[in-house]
Amino acid sequence: MKVTVVGAGAVGASCAEYIAIKNFASEVVLLDIKEGYAEGKAMDLMQTASLNGFDTKITGITNDYSQTAESDICVITSGIPRKPGMTREELIGINAGIVKTVSSNLIEHSPNTIIIVVSNPMDTMAYLVHKSTSIPKNRIIGMGGALDSARFKYRLAEALEGPISDVDGMVIGGHSDTGMIPLTRLATRAGVPVSEFLSNERLSQVLEDTKVGGATLTKLLGTSAWYAPGAAVSALVQAIACDQKKVFPCSVLLEGEYGLNDISIGVPVIIGKNGVESIIDIPLNDAEKASMQESAEGVKKVNALLEL
Ligand code: NAI
Repeated sequence: MKVTVVGAGAVGASCAEYIAIKNFASEVVLLDIKEGYAEGKAMDLMQTASLNGFDTKITGITNDYSQTAESDICVITSGIPRKPGMTREELIGINAGIVKTVSSNLIEHSPNTIIIVVSNPMDTMAYLVHKSTSIPKNRIIGMGGALDSARFKYRLAEALEGPISDVDGMVIGGHSDTGMIPLTRLATRAGVPVSEFLSNERLSQVLEDTKVGGATLTKLLGTSAWYAPGAAVSALVQAIACDQKKVFPCSVLLEGEYGLNDISIGVPVIIGKNGVESIIDIPLNDAEKASMQESAEGVKKVNALLEL
């Protein structure tokens, strides 16, 4: 199993590290445009191998795509992250050009690869990969919901004052502060709806804290987060590599599901060796359906800024 990660910055290096530590991939190639940067990150990570007990070989390369050839999975994290006060949407001008070039280079050398898009604004960047390449839709996955759901579970456990492992919850919709839809109605603690434990007021607070989860960290760190994004990407990579058929909300191209068309947006999907094995159409109530429509309109407004 060969995995290429483009962008050896904060998220790219973090995801390479988690993939290596889990020891399921034979090779991780880190590629960056900055001279020597990926080589340095790869060498530093390889020097943790004997300490952390992994055999995955991590190599770093500067912009030479021939060395990414025959990758089973390619992760795109290249591009600029947001600074405090910025929205993810403001990154489109620079990141669209980068994602278009990078995806085309990757596919040239790995025509059968599965692509995981991380660069923001992620839903629009995933849509761009659909529109600018000819690879089938099951092989293009936008990572956002897996991270947002992890943040939702963190906030739920905090409110419940209990362990995260007891909590289940999912965030669908666009990967933006206004587009995210934490499904509080379906969130559970040991199978019991969380509304049995938390007041409406506390649940609303959890919802708000989840939606601004990324912005809160950006304010604290001065740039966007990397540990949880890296872990979320590595979980998707592992689900594909190990054919886990595990459910994650991911940004995928919809053709009628959830009443939406020609858009990539977060919905629950089964992830396995073929990438997106299938989309799960969960029955939403009227309020959730309205939120999904509104979220989709937001994503479509950003998509309209693309020069396709
Ligand atoms: P970073 O600035 O630490 O790393 C980005 C790397 O991309 C840099 O090393 C840069 O040299 C490289 N790069 C730029 N253009 C390139 C090109 N054409 N080819 C190869 N490499 C290139 O940024 P960070 O924090 O790692 O974030 C990366 C992206 O991921 C940002 O767009 C950020 O907004 C996004 N992100 C998305 C998340 C999600 O849930 N979808 C979560 C966190 C970040």
